[in-house]
Amino acid sequence: MKTVRVDLDDRSYPIYIGNDVLGAEHLAQHIPGRQVLVVTNETIAPLYLERTLAELSDFQCDAVLLPDGERYKTLETAGRIYDRLLESRMDRQVTLVALGGGVVGDITGFVAATYQRGVHFVQIPTTLLAQVDSSVGGKTGVNHPLGKNMIGAFYQPRCVIADTRTLATLPERELQAGIAEVVKYGLIRDAAFLDWLEAHMSALLARDPEALTYAIEQSCRHKAEVVAADEREAGQRALLNLGHTFGHAIETHTGYSEWLHGEAVGTGMCMAARLSAELGWISEADCARTERIVAAAGLPTRPPRMASERFLELMAVDKKAIGGKIRLVLLKALGHAVVTQDFDPSALDRVLAEYA
Ligand code: NAD
Ligand code: GLY
Repeated sequence: MKTVRVDLDDRSYPIYIGNDVLGAEHLAQHIPGRQVLVVTNETIAPLYLERTLAELSDFQCDAVLLPDGERYKTLETAGRIYDRLLESRMDRQVTLVALGGGVVGDITGFVAATYQRGVHFVQIPTTLLAQVDSSVGGKTGVNHPLGKNMIGAFYQPRCVIADTRTLATLPERELQAGIAEVVKYGLIRDAAFLDWLEAHMSALLARDPEALTYAIEQSCRHKAEVVAADEREAGQRALLNLGHTFGHAIETHTGYSEWLHGEAVGTGMCMAARLSAELGWISEADCARTERIVAAAGLPTRPPRMASERFLELMAVDKKAIGGKIRLVLLKALGHAVVTQDFDPSALDRVLAEYA
């Protein structure tokens, strides 16, 4: 088992990573009161709810099952959790346990941040994406019909339990989407990790437990360092959005139904690398290497057909944009990213014309 710490003073917490860490009694140790509400969904409950409840046999425990899907990441679904908390007379000492992917984790964290002005919560992420990204760092929230993740709070969990055993049941496409976020850490801040990923991509795709544990540990270490330095995204945390501005345009254009988030991020990272090469910041060879790594993960490297004006318009709706001006995460080298508004817009036009 590996442990990575997120250092945030009195809100610091551990991330436990490994095979069967759920069974290693970490969960109970991070629950301060007697009451627990496990939040999960209809797909994950038959797979892992019983196992989780077995770890909670000493607590007064209840579970709520949400419908499965990004379209249910809404205030209305959050309302169902508040209803259950109140109906079950859960008090301020209750701990919410999020058992699932990023959707369950983000909603549960938001409810934990707001129920009685804040109660404890624990993350048990069950997708690779959630284990390497969404369960760590305290971004919680729900979608609004006019924008993704537009309602939310920064609220840290008391611990994260990333059990690689749960990834055995993850659909192939979801695994590949999670790998996109792993590649992201290599591209933005760790060239050596990128070398490792190239050498171990087949092991990751084959769900080799050692390879998965290493990739999750390195990813969480990077995320923990960035979050500890810039919890509320005043600066460098925005680097974690490499590929996301391009990716969000693809997700919005395709109605959040055809492309998984990680797939859009994979293509977005290829487009960010292409723009970085167009600006002369990285070589053509590094741009081609980025594309090869993304493709090796089984991810798309090209967006769907769409007018470049439409692509640009959707990119401008990004949360990073300031005064309508697009800010992007671009590469100065593989392993070194920057957040910048300072790029030649005609280079972006050329990339969009070529790709979209
Ligand atoms: P998800 O939560 O929708 O899970 C993907 C699918 O896999 C779902 O159908 C789910 O039921 C199923 N599933 C989950 N675990 C499983 C398992 N072990 N076996 C079989 N099936 C399983 O998607 P996701 O990719 O985990 O998360 C995406 C969400 O995360 C988005 O809403 C995104 O906005 C959010 N996100 C948040 C952050 C953050 O920092 N908070 C970061 C990145 C993404
Ligand atoms: N997923 C980006 C962040 O947590 O900041």
